[in-house]
Amino acid sequence: SQRSLVLLKPDAVRRGLIGEIIRRIEAKAGWTITALELRSLDRGTLETHYAEHAGKPFYEPLLEFMVSGPAVVMIVEGERVIEGLRALAGPTDPVAAAPGSIRGDFGTIVRENLIHASDSAESAERELKIFFPSHA
Ligand code: GTP
Ligand code: MG
Repeated sequence: SQRSLVLLKPDAVRRGLIGEIIRRIEAKAGWTITALELRSLDRGTLETHYAEHAGKPFYEPLLEFMVSGPAVVMIVEGERVIEGLRALAGPTDPVAAAPGSIRGDFGTIVRENLIHASDSAESAERELKIFFPSHA
């Protein structure tokens, strides 16, 4: 089976949506949360995590948003969990996200889109090492 690194972003924590989002993840048959922590992310960690976006116009506001409050950091394991979590989250821009997806139901603006989930097996391995070095 696969593992994915999931972040419930500071907007999800502030808005009291972490229970609802975790419920949707737990409801998927065969998926298991194998690590979970409420954690204030530091800039260095986020620079590593979001290195692919360095220099883009949304990069600095994204980092500022991501350090604006604690996030929930999780590992989710299961069959095809990477693809499944991306579908559960919906597209990056909540305006484009269908009702029924997390971003479609609760998202507002593209930066504050509630959840991160690894976008490939390679990304998952890289990100798990960043956020859970002892589990990697
Ligand atoms: P993550 O799971 O957080 O990585 O989101 P993603 O994979 O759906 O999107 P991507 O990796 O392309 O971008 C990372 C994050 O940057 C997004 O989740 C948004 O919070 C933010 N972001 C991406 N594109 C834009 C954009 O065009 N404008 C703004 N303001 N923010 C963006
Ligand atoms: Mg991404």
